Amino acid sequence: MAHLVRWGILGAGGIAAAVGADVAASAGSTVAAVGSRDSVRARDLARRVGAPRAHGSDGELIADPDVDVVYVATTHAQHRGAALAALRAGKPVLVEKPIALNARQAHEIADAAAERGLLCLEGMWTRLNPALRAIQSVIAAGEIGEVRTVRVDLSHAFEYDPKHRLFDPEVGGGALLDLGVYPAAIAWLLLGRPDAVRASATFAPTGVDAAASMWWSYEDGRAAQLTCSAVSDAGSTATIVGTEGWIEAAGMIFRTEEFTVCTAAGSRTERHPLPAGNGYGLEVAEIEKCLAKGLTDSADMPLAASLGVLEVLDEVRRQVGVRYPDEEA
Ligand SMILES: NC(=O)c1ccc[n+]([C@@H]2O[C@H](COP(=O)([O-])OP(=O)(O)OC[C@H]3O[C@@H](n4cnc5c(N)ncnc54)[C@H](OP(=O)(O)O)[C@@H]3O)[C@@H](O)[C@H]2O)c1
Repeated sequence: MAHLVRWGILGAGGIAAAVGADVAASAGSTVAAVGSRDSVRARDLARRVGAPRAHGSDGELIADPDVDVVYVATTHAQHRGAALAALRAGKPVLVEKPIALNARQAHEIADAAAERGLLCLEGMWTRLNPALRAIQSVIAAGEIGEVRTVRVDLSHAFEYDPKHRLFDPEVGGGALLDLGVYPAAIAWLLLGRPDAVRASATFAPTGVDAAASMWWSYEDGRAAQLTCSAVSDAGSTATIVGTEGWIEAAGMIFRTEEFTVCTAAGSRTERHPLPAGNGYGLEVAEIEKCLAKGLTDSADMPLAASLGVLEVLDEVRRQVGVRYPDEEA
């Protein structure tokens, strides 16, 4: 039997449980340990994902000799410290989105991984989404002509609580880093790095952005109109407009399973379901594949795209005036 990838989950919150369940369900992986600041929470999640060990600190989890890969599932401001600690201990990392608060931190993480020849990926699982990949095939086949405009919204109304991760500046809250990173990743995937960006935002009482809008423009006339909100349910739509038609994706864009292609010839709908479980199986499989092949990056979820997106989001935050406590003045 092939060697199982032994995961260490760092953080015992919502996404740790969702991804942890898919790790546990994968034939190629096992959850070896869970680490949390709170040992009761660590034990509870360890029990739920079948992990034999629970640790009461990041350090203990990272030092666990039975952990092959560390999955950093904490809040945004905590990604840098945890990822660097794991890499310095010689462990590859999967870091939840966004990989860090800003591009400077992200490059620091990427450099630490490169120095040690270790795998380091952001959990931007949307890049592996089967429907999104099928959309790319439709575009590559020329069905909608040349892509000119990408419009993506990701909005979800969270109940306002200044201590909730979405609204708390101490942990890197804000709609842009939490939700806007998905529309940005999709625009990057379909159009690449913009030549110019214009942004605006509205703010929560804590000072982080409650909603943000970005206009990415390209010197050849292409554009992306990207929006996100943590205070309204705006429908979460994506439309990719080409010179000879358009594609509309259905449902929450980061986990879309269906899209419609509209051209002069008519329209058709394609359905590409996510894997069973919570949908993170492809991300788990990608880590398994990269580790088995000794890769330090993923062709489908490349670190360069994670870094590039954060560089653009830095500029957006500069324009709208959102700065986190950990960031230099
Ligand atoms: N891929 C996806 O679909 C998806 C979906 C939702 C969220 N996310 C991402 O996953 C990450 C965590 O989100 P979540 O929804 O799991 O959040 P959550 O339920 O609030 O959990 C966040 C975890 O961060 C840890 N943490 C460490 N230091 C902290 C601090 N100073 N304050 C608060 N928490 C701290 C906590 O772990 P302990 O207390 O256990 O140590 C906590 O359980 C974020 O990067 C988010 O953007 C991804």
